[in-house]
Amino acid sequence: MEKIVSLCKRRGFVYPGSEIYGGLKGTWDYGPLGAELKFNIKQEWWKSMVRNREDVVGISASILMNPKVWEASGHTAGFTDPLVECKICHQRFRADQDDVIKEHEKFHEKNKEKASWTESKKFNLLVEVKIGVVEGEKDSAYLRGEITQGVHVNFKNILNSSRLKIPFGVAQIGKAFRNEITPGNFTYRSIEFEQMELQYYVKPDEKESMRQYEFWKNLRFAWYKSLGIKPKNLRFREHTKDELAHYARAAWDIEYNAPFGWKECEGLHHRGDWDLSRHQEFSGQDMSYFNEETKERYIPWVIETSGGVDRAALFFLIDAYTQEGDRIVLKLNPKIAPFKVAVFPLLANKPQLVELAHKIYIDLKKDFNVAWDERGNIGKRYYSQDEIGTPWCVTVDFDSLEKGDVTVRNRDTMKQERIKIDELKNYFEDKLK
Ligand code: GAP
Repeated sequence: MEKIVSLCKRRGFVYPGSEIYGGLKGTWDYGPLGAELKFNIKQEWWKSMVRNREDVVGISASILMNPKVWEASGHTAGFTDPLVECKICHQRFRADQDDVIKEHEKFHEKNKEKASWTESKKFNLLVEVKIGVVEGEKDSAYLRGEITQGVHVNFKNILNSSRLKIPFGVAQIGKAFRNEITPGNFTYRSIEFEQMELQYYVKPDEKESMRQYEFWKNLRFAWYKSLGIKPKNLRFREHTKDELAHYARAAWDIEYNAPFGWKECEGLHHRGDWDLSRHQEFSGQDMSYFNEETKERYIPWVIETSGGVDRAALFFLIDAYTQEGDRIVLKLNPKIAPFKVAVFPLLANKPQLVELAHKIYIDLKKDFNVAWDERGNIGKRYYSQDEIGTPWCVTVDFDSLEKGDVTVRNRDTMKQERIKIDELKNYFEDKLK
């Protein structure tokens, strides 16, 4: 993890949030490469979950919602973690995180102290905010604790403004906020994070809903593999009865084999009719669906896939990190790599080479995210691109001026081939299919 965290900072993937003011625990800022990585992950998710499907649409709901939403969803009452406080130093921890508790006890043992803890209390994770322009007359609201509810409160709007028929899904990507008691493991557990979710509405039928549940569960697992996570580092884990969230009829996690243990990457939940029936009860609005063909009216059940963009980015980075002798290579799938191509002139002091290389760089930039480098020698430039996961490097040399071709070097095999300059775009497009 130390190597990943250091590479992320040094090369511009992730920085500690508001670092020049001493930071803010549990917040992270994505640098130029991290922003590209996250953007690519979201784009691949959107393609797979929305664009390539006939039965899913996307929305983008507000982060701030009427506080009644969170009463209806059960978050004001049930969205809690057990909290204990160390009686010596008054630091607070999650009572159910044995490893963190033990680590803290060891810290005190080193100082010849014996840590003792307060009784475990329930701590609500919703982040409260004040809204209003007149001092003293502010209203309380919450930053959304999950992006889910923005979809469910719009169920009728979406139905009435589209031609969707059950079964159908509504996808969304956006920020969520939780007052985590012990944020940690780099970006893994943050206070502010991004989720990518599908709420899939199905007929309230045990067999049909479980068929859909299995379908989405397997599709999501396959998505991580298709983008290069090693199968041995992925597994499913079923939630035990006492872990089930207040809304869940069934829940499995996709877990990743991180350096800090097997950890949740994405949650797959059978939410039953929890959300829509609660919003019907609390808002007084009808949330039912009417099937014109069968004349049946019902509150649909919901199958949810809920992944974290930050966790996916972290696990893709960890999985891709490879050390081969003195070469560090991020073997990221080219689809999510921040740069697809880097272009270099063989020598920075030969204007003809620089001019042709720069023209190729500008041309390729119209279609791909492309890096430019003319510092140091070619070997160093290759190593520098390997470390940030750039799949291909293009070098313009003296032969390029004569023959109109360039060397394309592959990140993973380090093999080089000559490609005609006017075939480069097709060459990379083919590789990225
Ligand atoms: N709507 C259901 C829901 O929010 P969840 O299991 O609480 O379910 C879903 O969260 C996903 O959101 C997690 O699998 C994880 O990827 C991400 N996530 C949750 N809390 C997080 C945190 N504090 N920091 C980073 N990611 C988080």
